[in-house]
Amino acid sequence: MNTNISIDGTEKMSGSADWLGLAGQVCVVSGAGSGIGAAMAQGLAAVGARVALLDRDVAAARRVAAQLTGKGAVALAVECDIADEAAVADAAKTVRAELGACDVLMNNAGMLRAASLETVTVAQWNEVLAVNLTGYLLCSREFGRDMLERQRGSIVHVASIAALHPQTQSGAYSASKAGVLLMSRQMAAEWGPRGVRSNAVCPGMIRTALSASFYAEPGFEARRAAVTASRRVGEPEDIANPAIFLASGRSSYLNGAEIVVDGGLDCMLMDMVPRPGFND
Ligand SMILES: NC(=O)c1ccc[n+]([C@@H]2O[C@H](COP(=O)([O-])OP(=O)(O)OC[C@H]3O[C@@H](n4cnc5c(N)ncnc54)[C@H](O)[C@@H]3O)[C@@H](O)[C@H]2O)c1
Repeated sequence: MNTNISIDGTEKMSGSADWLGLAGQVCVVSGAGSGIGAAMAQGLAAVGARVALLDRDVAAARRVAAQLTGKGAVALAVECDIADEAAVADAAKTVRAELGACDVLMNNAGMLRAASLETVTVAQWNEVLAVNLTGYLLCSREFGRDMLERQRGSIVHVASIAALHPQTQSGAYSASKAGVLLMSRQMAAEWGPRGVRSNAVCPGMIRTALSASFYAEPGFEARRAAVTASRRVGEPEDIANPAIFLASGRSSYLNGAEIVVDGGLDCMLMDMVPRPGFND
């Protein structure tokens, strides 16, 4: 097998056409109508997976699915609000009937409501937790059922560096994402013995619809790049690729793990500490 992917990821793999072993696998992506979820759906379709694109914005999911089917992939858009237990159960039934039992779940749909802890309303707090945390549990349970029955499967949760570091004015976002990491580890402990793995990715600053307003402000992209070791803001594919690795059997001994994918932002803390003659 020849796997000549270059160190910066620019050369594609050659040799084994199905190095990831995902061809024909039924892969469900929540929030697949935009950003990181759309990139995951595209990446999974490119390696031959059968992809279900869940989104509460079904028009957006349909647009992405149409691009994929136009290239010969198997892709199904499904309307689903992941915070709604009945809607998730319906979506799982639809996917089972149309594509077959689920092999991989990408828990990705998420939202942000900016507010300080003093001012955040209970409604805003609960709305974020309902999608970002409870929604991940509901999808894991519904789609995980197929995996537990067959004693095989992989679940990848998109958390955030906000799960590891608080940010002021972020309302319930950090708490919801920190909850995802612990839930992912608990899932690994409960379901690992039954053949189902659970892992998480923690994205740093990624350019998507969710964060578009930050980059629309002149100068902010450069300032964000400057505090990142890789000196650039991330693209959706920067998260989709490691997430697809976690979904695949190539990561078969990773379980309950968290991969921080932030271009080295995490390494820059000490450079924020003022030092005479060192900070430009
Ligand atoms: N963009 C970033 O910088 C960043 C950083 C860290 C983590 N994340 C996480 O990555 C994930 C994807 O975010 P993104 O940046 O691609 O955002 P995005 O806004 O581009 O895409 C999110 C998608 O999720 C869908 N969605 C939202 N709530 C939903 C619900 N209740 N049910 C079904 N679908 C729903 C939206 O319709 C949208 O299509 C989120 O969990 C987010 O918290 C993003």
